[in-house]
Amino acid sequence: MRKPIIAGNWKMNKTISEAEQLIDEIKNEKLNESVEAVLCVPYLSLAKAKEMTRDTNINIGAQNMHWEESGAFTGEVSPTMLKEVQVDYVIIGHSERRQYFNETDETVNKKVLSAINHGLAPIICVGETLEQREENIHITLVAEQIKAAFSNVSNEDATKTVVAYEPIWAIGTGKTASSEQAEEMCALIRSTIKALYGKETAESIRIQYGGSVKPGNVSELMSMENIDGALVGGASLKSSDFVKLINY
Ligand code: PGA
Repeated sequence: MRKPIIAGNWKMNKTISEAEQLIDEIKNEKLNESVEAVLCVPYLSLAKAKEMTRDTNINIGAQNMHWEESGAFTGEVSPTMLKEVQVDYVIIGHSERRQYFNETDETVNKKVLSAINHGLAPIICVGETLEQREENIHITLVAEQIKAAFSNVSNEDATKTVVAYEPIWAIGTGKTASSEQAEEMCALIRSTIKALYGKETAESIRIQYGGSVKPGNVSELMSMENIDGALVGGASLKSSDFVKLINY
């Protein structure tokens, strides 16, 4: 049985004081303990977020990292820095990183390997653009993104990852993929992982759907066989919505 995992991706939102307030609101609510809740907050709020959630079931994630431990990489944050503040997860290869910050399948793979080596669980993001879906290349493309992300990742390490399928056309647009479309792609991801690592590993990895997930559509998405969670942007910035998602 895969434990459902719902992660809020705050993106570049919330100052430290705003983050404190939002976390306070979330942790004062009753959260379903059979769902894993993760907050992926901006770097500056990670230490505070971790401190505030220490006695709760909420885990904390970063939204990106460099693959090197240290060095002349101005403006970057390393896995050792994340580890020191006891971050649990790190989002790798979000489409906004790929689109605006030139991340490629190759850098995504480096980051995945580095995160695992440093004891951080990567949330690996894959997904197609609208044009790619219209050209009907989305299936091949997402399968290739998965193969590239898992390149040189051992079978045992693969089980430590979470995968997020996020069709770019559904992110922040209010346009959710239908639960059938989301399920089709999450099933494809699982079968791609099965071809790489076998059935047991494929069955153990949690696959999230992301893209305009809201309290109103979460239950239907979560009822799909291959959807084990959600990566949520907009609806994770309001405590009442995020709590509804966790308690879907
Ligand atoms: P959204 O973002 O929920 O606002 O569509 C999802 C994401 O980018 O992870």
